[in-house]
Amino acid sequence: MRYFVTGGAGFIGSNLVDRLLANGQEVVVYDNFNTGLEEFLAEAGKSPKFSLIKGDNLNLIALTKAMKGSDFIFHLAANADVRFGIEHPEKDLQQNTIATFNVLEAMRSNGIKKVAFPSTGSIYGETKIIPTPENAPFPTQTSLYGASKLACEGLIEAYCEGFGFQAWIFRFVSILGERYTHGHVFDFYKKLLENPGELLILGNGCQKKSYLYIQDCLDAMFFSIDKFKDSVNILNLGIDEYCQVNESIAWITTCLGLNPKLKYTGGERGWIGDNPFIFLDTAKINNAGWKPKLSIKEGIIRTLEYLMENKWVLEK
Ligand SMILES: NC(=O)c1ccc[n+]([C@@H]2O[C@H](COP(=O)([O-])OP(=O)(O)OC[C@H]3O[C@@H](n4cnc5c(N)ncnc54)[C@H](O)[C@@H]3O)[C@@H](O)[C@H]2O)c1
Repeated sequence: MRYFVTGGAGFIGSNLVDRLLANGQEVVVYDNFNTGLEEFLAEAGKSPKFSLIKGDNLNLIALTKAMKGSDFIFHLAANADVRFGIEHPEKDLQQNTIATFNVLEAMRSNGIKKVAFPSTGSIYGETKIIPTPENAPFPTQTSLYGASKLACEGLIEAYCEGFGFQAWIFRFVSILGERYTHGHVFDFYKKLLENPGELLILGNGCQKKSYLYIQDCLDAMFFSIDKFKDSVNILNLGIDEYCQVNESIAWITTCLGLNPKLKYTGGERGWIGDNPFIFLDTAKINNAGWKPKLSIKEGIIRTLEYLMENKWVLEK
């Protein structure tokens, strides 16, 4: 099988690429290196089954050409940072929704019908149903990122119905682990390196979030693609626990041997569009036989250890 991975130079994408190659698959990465890093593909680059095409999903002609001969698309490229949507309202629409439309059109031109797509728990907005199942009542959107990803889901579903595609749509909680380049552990560690005596926290620190370790996330994706065979397969990917930001800070500072003064920007939300409580119901995948191996605390500590050993990532 030849797998085509958009965003394959990113955090999740590059880990996925390594796993696909380890499984003996052929892999083509398509990435514009907007946030992706060449270093993440150093090992993959040694494999004869790996090829890299530098390109942008917004260039439909180049994308269509690059995809030729592939069997399965992992469409991971996106503007993956939920926080800054209102600073550039068009970015999520372009990088997520229009780019996904292009991926679907390139697939259609090439006669490729299978696609896996990472959506997000952010699409549930501030739902009252917690833990939140996949079939929660249609949610009100609170971020441009979530809205753009929900639009992607809609397009993918329509291509499944209209053109006989098969899709796996994964609604992730926050993912962390090796090659992590954005998120709270990254931000806190970077701030603590600059000033070990003080830490500024967005919001009141009481936000409750769920986190999944990258290798568990990849296991869950492979498991789902193998197990769920509907035309459209929508799955929450997460863990059956959550933690408060303040708990996470305690784990991080203890691990670093620091006792910084904690300062809060205040309010229930860290930024406009932040969901104060994200906890997904993962019964669908759990009942099919998948469980994560690492707890949230273990995932956070492992992420921190990776960043401590790879400080160069913080400079990029
Ligand atoms: N990391 C998380 O916690 C998380 C949670 C939910 C969903 N997701 C989704 O998972 C996917 C991967 O996220 P990530 O954390 O690895 O992010 P990332 O920023 O590390 O990776 C995104 C990759 O896509 C590339 N890219 C961006 N725009 C592109 C374009 N127009 N054309 C070609 N390449 C482009 C970037 O260079 C980068 O390599 C994204 O779709 C993201 O929305 C991530």
